[in-house]
Amino acid sequence: MKFSQCGPLRGEVTIPGDKSISHRSVMFGSIARGTTEIHNFLQGADCLSTISCFRKMGIEIENNGNAVLVHGRGMRGLAKPDTVLDCGNSGTTTRLISGILSAQDFTVTLTGDSSIQKRPMKRILDPLSQMGAKIRSLQDNGCAPLEITGSLLHGIHYHSPVASAQVKSAVLLAGLYADGETRVTEPYVSRNHTELMLSCFGAAIHTEDTTAVIQPADELYGQKIRIPGDISSAAFFLAAGLLVPGSEILIRGVGINPTRDGILRVCREMGADLTLLNENLDASEPVADILVKSSRLHGITIGGAIIPTLIDELPIIAVMACFADGETVIRDAAELKVKESNRIDVMVRNLSAMGADVEETADGMIIRGGSPLHGAVIDSRLDHRIAMTFAVVSCLAEGETEIRGAECVNISYPGFYRDLELLKI
Ligand code: S3P
Repeated sequence: MKFSQCGPLRGEVTIPGDKSISHRSVMFGSIARGTTEIHNFLQGADCLSTISCFRKMGIEIENNGNAVLVHGRGMRGLAKPDTVLDCGNSGTTTRLISGILSAQDFTVTLTGDSSIQKRPMKRILDPLSQMGAKIRSLQDNGCAPLEITGSLLHGIHYHSPVASAQVKSAVLLAGLYADGETRVTEPYVSRNHTELMLSCFGAAIHTEDTTAVIQPADELYGQKIRIPGDISSAAFFLAAGLLVPGSEILIRGVGINPTRDGILRVCREMGADLTLLNENLDASEPVADILVKSSRLHGITIGGAIIPTLIDELPIIAVMACFADGETVIRDAAELKVKESNRIDVMVRNLSAMGADVEETADGMIIRGGSPLHGAVIDSRLDHRIAMTFAVVSCLAEGETEIRGAECVNISYPGFYRDLELLKI
């Protein structure tokens, strides 16, 4: 797909539902008793993979393209699927579902696309095995396909070496079925959607600093859920609005959970003109509209506890750094190497091809802003966030940018290119 440099971006965009929260709503709804009614569900390929897995385990799920009704059958209501469960491109589906499957009374095989089959699963195999799960990597390489035979589980206190909500959530979900309390301590707090939503479904769960604590549950109860817009999707419009001269964009309905809002803090620290409007902070998942105006940015250092709160936004933050005055250092972000693609490598290569001054480090990047960028052929490596990141860069780069595999935005934001086009004046 080809893109050209453009003038100011102006208008409004409403952000589709949050991917992390959409996955969880279907998973928890499936093991709850009664119907879970979900509004603003993200109809991206990843979340549809989650729906498909639970349908294969006998859960009736109605999806009219926006609202989703999950007819849960209780914590012991899943049925053995006839086929392998295909998680597609979705790490969240693979890892979270593994926690649930570790406690069922059947054996199941989980797999996914070629990207999923390269992503590290040892990080869940280790704690789930410690809890008593029979879970193994069929090719013995620490990756999917995984074979899981449900077992009686024990509560553990797991000290995760990585701050990962997927690892934390897999262990907490297994903990629902364990014979005692389960604790997960992380180096830094990762997104807490599992904790918030499981609590609404009736689980006894709380947090103590960087530790999440869950008690075994007898039953969860179906809920009505309205999913906020995904701040990770909003990030592309935030950056576009800040960087394309003369722009002003109102980004509507964005989830601003404090474990996800690192991008807002970084934008402000870089000098961005951002205003939060219509803030609704009462719900467990707070929401706001964000008004963004083009701004002159300056480089900063990003590392430590803020990293998990903006992990998926680092590619687009790297782009902001290319247009900022001075140097930006991104560190403590080695997790970027094990996302849908190696996002450090893919960003450094593609930004360099466009003329940026960017250097790879062991756990991040150093970017010196101010070099003018020009169009290039970009390999998205079928990573949705990389494709969207370079669609934003194409607005700013001189000449034409071609993005290979551009259709992969389907994973998290099927209407992304249309929404971006509509803002061009
Ligand atoms: C997610 C957690 C993050 C994030 C991913 C979604 C989740 O991954 O990158 O896109 O829904 O829990 P990690 O938990 O592996 O950091």
